[in-house]
Amino acid sequence: MSQEQRTLTMHPKLLLDVIQRQAGTLEKAVLEGVMNAIEARANTVKISLKEKGNKALLSIVDDGRGITTREEVELFFEQFGTPHEESENKIWAQFRMGRGQLFAFGKNIWRTGPFKMTVDVKNKGLDWLLEKNTRSKGCKIEVELYQNPIGYNYPSIASFKERIQELVRFVSIPVLFDGEQLNNDPKELEWTCKDKNAYYLFGVGEELKVYNLGVYVHSIPSYRSGVSGIVVSKKQLKVNFARNDVHSDCPIWIDMNKVIIKNRKKTRQQRRSLDKSERLSTLIDLRDGVEDYDEVKNIGLVHDVNGRVVTLEKIRKHKGAWTFAKHGDIIADKLMQQGQALCFDEKLPESLGFTGNPGRLFYWLANAFASDWDLEKNWSHLEGCFKPFKELRKQFNSSYSILTSQNLTTTEKRILAILNKMPCWKGREIHIGLSMTAAGWTDGASYIVIERSFLDGLYLNSSVGVGALFALLSHEMAHDINTAGSHTHGEEFFRNFHDMIMSVESGDWRSESPMAWMSSFEYQIKRSRIEDRRINERDKKEKQQAKADKKLGIAAKVK
Ligand SMILES: Nc1ncnc2c1ncn2[C@@H]1O[C@H](COP(=O)(O)OP(=O)(O)OP(=O)(O)O)[C@@H](O)[C@H]1O
Ligand SMILES: [Mg+2]
Repeated sequence: MSQEQRTLTMHPKLLLDVIQRQAGTLEKAVLEGVMNAIEARANTVKISLKEKGNKALLSIVDDGRGITTREEVELFFEQFGTPHEESENKIWAQFRMGRGQLFAFGKNIWRTGPFKMTVDVKNKGLDWLLEKNTRSKGCKIEVELYQNPIGYNYPSIASFKERIQELVRFVSIPVLFDGEQLNNDPKELEWTCKDKNAYYLFGVGEELKVYNLGVYVHSIPSYRSGVSGIVVSKKQLKVNFARNDVHSDCPIWIDMNKVIIKNRKKTRQQRRSLDKSERLSTLIDLRDGVEDYDEVKNIGLVHDVNGRVVTLEKIRKHKGAWTFAKHGDIIADKLMQQGQALCFDEKLPESLGFTGNPGRLFYWLANAFASDWDLEKNWSHLEGCFKPFKELRKQFNSSYSILTSQNLTTTEKRILAILNKMPCWKGREIHIGLSMTAAGWTDGASYIVIERSFLDGLYLNSSVGVGALFALLSHEMAHDINTAGSHTHGEEFFRNFHDMIMSVESGDWRSESPMAWMSSFEYQIKRSRIEDRRINERDKKEKQQAKADKKLGIAAKVK
């Protein structure tokens, strides 16, 4: 066959798929609309969302130059992917695809210049309607959303507004949501520093939020960026198709990153104590050879199991036993109190990306900054002093201890609070304790203790885990003698146990049998966890926002 020069093509079905699937979240789609309005040189963008039963009406209205000629309609609105001309002077626009994200969420009616355009991809696919419009300034987009997102993707309209606010916070023209302005011009704010590339605010929140010309791109956790805060580029960053990541070869970003690195070194030098993510990022910088040992050797960098921090110099000079254990482990705490061992948080090796024998961790880390001579003389002994925690805790084998409230984790406290409200323990109080031999024990009258590691191993999100917990508690309820130490099951025990189980089977839900309270426990634990998470997130966000606003000099918003 003779040669043929051919070209790859795209089936229209693929375009429909791209439109429907490039969409991430509704707030991102709104952001596309806002960016388009700014590209069209608008002075203001107004957004609103009105609920209509299980549907909702979203509108984005701007006063920019609009679409005014039929040629523009065909090339820019109808056709996807039309390349941009240099003369269009675009800010963010790259792909001529962005409007597809708005199409994906609902039936779109655009009114701009002399045109009214209706697109309904869900019901009409790629076919759309062009009609006459009485000429209006700018562009008015109404989207009849295929599903009301409130109560589904966003708990309330206010939370939808906040999500949009996060995305448009530093764009240059006013963006209003139901009349409330969501953004500030970065030129008017107080930043830690500015340069030709960007505005920088350091030391707020737990992540570094990156904005491309005022538009949110993504957040980098501060243990990776080394410093928390906000950076807003003044020039176009090279971003990916979804505009949620910056290419690592972007020259503006490379320069901005230098400022970020300089600033995190400065933060470390200025402060004698660092926060948790700063500590981890310092250790990571040491590992990667970006930080000098001498600069940070006397700053607490390594967490012990009680959350205190230890300097690398102290570790280097340590000649006794050391180990890794769970955060808050009471036996590890005792080992430290008695000076028997240093116990570090067991998550450390993993967070540094170390997968070898844990005893080699510090030797491995020091490899990055110590000379061969220094490494052998000062760091190699640590491997020999390492003892697995299992070995060290053996000496506590026979002890049974009850943990006091201050030694309990939030989750443990929550579990106890729910259990102790249930009427089925006949006056016995439920505790959490430590034992190497028993999963639980009781004095037969006033308390029952659940062993911490047993509880830890239960998956309380499932009925199986809850069942195992209640089986243990029922078992202990059936004992009316002290079960710490020895543990025998006489006839009396089996009679009690049987009565308890049978009272449930007979369907008596007011029963004093613990088994009857299982599903109530499961429900409450799930709810309290969701509620805790919600409250935590809300509090954290509010605090961070307030802190950032304060630093930036934004006056408290009128709600
Ligand atoms: N609010 C608007 N006012 C005027 N013209 C608009 C408006 N929104 C969209 N357009 C026109 O529609 C075109 C397509 O918008 P779309 O968002 O799909 O692509 P883009 O902005 O060019 O590039 P990108 O895919 O990177 O967003 C724009 O280039 C512009 O010509
Ligand atoms: Mg666009």
